Amino acid sequence: MRRLPAELLRLDVDRLALFTRWDVWPILVEQIGDIYPACNCFVWSKLNLGRGNCRHMGSSHEFCYVSARAQHMMRVDGRRPANVVACKTLHTSQLVHPTQKPLAICEHLVQCLAGPDEVILDPFTGAGSIGVAAVRTGRRFIGMELDDEHFETARARLAEACQDDADESRAA
Ligand SMILES: C[S@@+](CC[C@H](N)C(=O)[O-])C[C@H]1O[C@@H](n2cnc3c(N)ncnc32)[C@H](O)[C@@H]1O
Repeated sequence: MRRLPAELLRLDVDRLALFTRWDVWPILVEQIGDIYPACNCFVWSKLNLGRGNCRHMGSSHEFCYVSARAQHMMRVDGRRPANVVACKTLHTSQLVHPTQKPLAICEHLVQCLAGPDEVILDPFTGAGSIGVAAVRTGRRFIGMELDDEHFETARARLAEACQDDADESRAA
């Protein structure tokens, strides 16, 4: 298991959400727990089984390591948010990235962790789902993506989300 990039530990952030597996969780605690202590375990319940065989139970959830200062107030639609959200995985025909997350999950997390107009950083942007969620919920966004093709996909999705947002503002 490789150590987390040092850059991640140097970022001046006080809230963090990392999707991870149950068996990686203890490693996260060991590596970042003193700087970013977990305050919650968010669970995305996928409502269907991942691939595999009958030697193991079928995986139908993902864990997300959440760290936030005690002073940070979490509100989604004005209410205290739940730490389990059920949402089907995207159908392969809908995917523009192999591990693309549904916008409902991204919007829930974005609203839990950032207030309106705050900046969200996703250093592993993929197809930009967190960015689109940020635009749709009135947050600002900085993304990083290694792969040129995924970067272009994310850029196009973000441009479309910004355009939709501008159109809605004009119509209101
Ligand atoms: C799990 S995917 C993110 C999917 C995204 N949440 C979505 O819904 O579209 C992780 C992405 O991180 C990118 N990645 C991996 N290492 C990276 C690095 N060091 N810097 C920037 N991007 C990286 C990969 O190319 C991949 O597209």
